[in-house]
Amino acid sequence: MFKLTAKALACALSLSIAGMAQAAEPEPIVIKFSHVVADHTPKGQGAVLFKKLAEERLPGKVKVEVYPNSSLFGDGKEMEALLLGDVQLIAPSLAKFEQYTKQIQVFDLPFLFQDMAAVDRFQLSPEGQALLTSMEDKNITGLAYWHNGLKQLSANKALREPKDARGLKFRVQASAVLEEQFKVVRANPRKMSFAEVYQGLQTGVVNGAENPYSNIYSQKMHEVQKFITESNHGVLDYMLITNTKFWNSLPADVRSELDKIIVEVTAEVNKQAGALNDGDKQRILEAKTTEIIELTPEQRGMWRDAMKPVWSKFEGEIGADLIKAADAANQ
Ligand code: LMR
Repeated sequence: MFKLTAKALACALSLSIAGMAQAAEPEPIVIKFSHVVADHTPKGQGAVLFKKLAEERLPGKVKVEVYPNSSLFGDGKEMEALLLGDVQLIAPSLAKFEQYTKQIQVFDLPFLFQDMAAVDRFQLSPEGQALLTSMEDKNITGLAYWHNGLKQLSANKALREPKDARGLKFRVQASAVLEEQFKVVRANPRKMSFAEVYQGLQTGVVNGAENPYSNIYSQKMHEVQKFITESNHGVLDYMLITNTKFWNSLPADVRSELDKIIVEVTAEVNKQAGALNDGDKQRILEAKTTEIIELTPEQRGMWRDAMKPVWSKFEGEIGADLIKAADAANQ
């Protein structure tokens, strides 16, 4: 008959105790947060803060892995990865949703928002909040809006009036509205993923671009752009999104803590974004690579008049009421 030696018995016992301990401590839920910008930007800082707070407040329950700078998935791939469950959080710019809903295109309309306070008011309005849940039938849940800021035009040519942009090639995000915004000033838009912009500008595949200062500086675009026109002609903000099925499958206590953390992180991102962009503007000035052009009110008016026809072109897709609600946020 088979006899257990004392040693084998001890070993079997310790294995089963270890097994019980393991069963009592489930593996943490891994949340992969992928994005395309640098850490030292509003979105990059938001992702880092989310990781810190989630791991502090849900120790052993949640582990957050942040992948900045398109290091895991770049534009075009990150949304697909979210839907496949390969990442759990992303925060694409609002210009990158047109495949999922046409309404979010409202944010791309040129010269719609006077300033970031107006953007904030619209995002917090019932119409803005409704957009967060407008893609749930596609398994995408919006958790929050995160600010970056207003976009500036950059080029290797001084852009003071719309006619200065004629014939130039501008990199645009994957947005039909932004394509049209350059077509109406007789420039040539070219869709390109964010990770390719620096090289595109450096090699002359494109001559110009549009971005807030934080993206220009952190990607060193100013090193390959002689001029930035402080046009503030449109907004570049984000929607923090998750996979609806994943979010709904989280244990209730974890999900409610994460929801609270997101409220906190959002307040912090939106509070800091302006200062971060101002700081990067200063750093660009100090680098002395690029002249920053301030527009006169008349010149800015010319850009607005030239670009505003884009609104009516997209009114059917976006909805006149939504455009009206966004415009009303200017007060
Ligand atoms: C861009 O592609 O220019 C931006 O959407 C990048 C970003 O995420 O800020």
